[in-house]
Amino acid sequence: MNFPEKFFWGAATASYQIEGAWDQDGKGESIWDRFSHTPGNVENGDTGDVAIDHYRRWREDIALMADLGLQAYRFSIAWPRILPEGTGRINRAGIDFYSRLVDGLLEAGIEPFVTLYHWDLPQALQDRGGWPARATAEAFVEYADLATRSLGDRVTRWTTLNEPRVSAFIGYAEGRHAPGHTDPGEAVAASHHLLLAHGLAVPVIRTNVPESRVGIVVDLIPQQPASPSLPDRNAAIWSDGWINRWFLDPLAGRGYPQDVVAGFESDMAFVRPDDLATIAAPLDFLGINYYSRNIVRANGVPEEENHPRTVFRGPEVTEMDWEVYPEGLYLTLGRLYFDYDFPSIYITENGAAYPDAVSPDGSVDDPDRLAYICRHLAQVERAIDIGVPVDGYFVWSLFDNFEWGHGYSRRFGIVHVDYETQRRTFKSSARWYRDVIRGNGHSDGKGA
Ligand code: FCB
Repeated sequence: MNFPEKFFWGAATASYQIEGAWDQDGKGESIWDRFSHTPGNVENGDTGDVAIDHYRRWREDIALMADLGLQAYRFSIAWPRILPEGTGRINRAGIDFYSRLVDGLLEAGIEPFVTLYHWDLPQALQDRGGWPARATAEAFVEYADLATRSLGDRVTRWTTLNEPRVSAFIGYAEGRHAPGHTDPGEAVAASHHLLLAHGLAVPVIRTNVPESRVGIVVDLIPQQPASPSLPDRNAAIWSDGWINRWFLDPLAGRGYPQDVVAGFESDMAFVRPDDLATIAAPLDFLGINYYSRNIVRANGVPEEENHPRTVFRGPEVTEMDWEVYPEGLYLTLGRLYFDYDFPSIYITENGAAYPDAVSPDGSVDDPDRLAYICRHLAQVERAIDIGVPVDGYFVWSLFDNFEWGHGYSRRFGIVHVDYETQRRTFKSSARWYRDVIRGNGHSDGKGA
């Protein structure tokens, strides 16, 4: 492979998925604690109470990262660990945890990429209305201010939110994620307040961290019509609208896409005059999470009246039932470049769940995951070749961990975790990734 000199090779995790210690050292309850403790929400009744015990094993985990040769590590801060009630009272022990983690990473020569919000909202804020309430966006600014004042002397790469679409629509409309609501109107308001929280926080982060590079992470999913029929094409335009453009357009300063506003049948009364200018705060980079594409068939058109479905190759799917479609990453990067022109792009997540078998000798061979990552990296390389400014790649995930509503039943790690013993083992994908980094990494370990 042939990647630019200043390219960050990384891996990613998120607080609730790995930390455990859900109620230790003064941490407050999050919506994911509440959600997973409510029977019926997560497969097998799994919770993040212990997860992979990273809160206690972080030193060992940094040593593994160093052994892998990681140049960057993307992790998130649990908001209720540092502000147990969401605002107001500060929990020093929580700040100290992240401070030690950052020091450990820097000592190991690994650049920390901190995500402020990866879905674990303080329950106290949900009790006051959660993301459908504007006050939550204001609370986020207080939290972002505290986090960046506490760590900004050492951390320069900050992302505000991870996948606001998932927080808003899966959390408040589909109910498969915390807080488990099923109200589409709440979801639209939540999406606006998430974007507003982002936009309000950006200047605060820049003030607190003069050398900062600030961005946001969105999940982009190409929408492919199931046939060339007009209803299928319109259905794909609609899906692309609410999944991709709903977030990209306001971030790029274009406001909300009007076709989607109309489709939501929302009066958008929660949008105040300056909000869209706030949301359009210039970004240093856009983070994108890419896993798959959707093939979209129009609802409500009888099969016999629609154009026959186009037969696509495959589909080859992962254990999540997500189609393996590496070319979609190239198409997505190309679209960002030609249609949006963000100054810099990181692939902040890409990876796959497959059922892993542990051999009698303890090793874990995961050729499917290795091939998934390799094939997607090839598409990143193609995008770079046409000039797309991709400055880094983070595997999801560094470790097997709590996969939200699926609990521990889906493994995304390149490092296997035995949940009984908490033993970590490099899978063959991790050993291969180490070789990729060695072969392509820049010598000083400092990326773009
Ligand atoms: C993304 C999430 C991440 C992980 C992967 C599989 O949507 O950001 O936490 O669950 O999917």
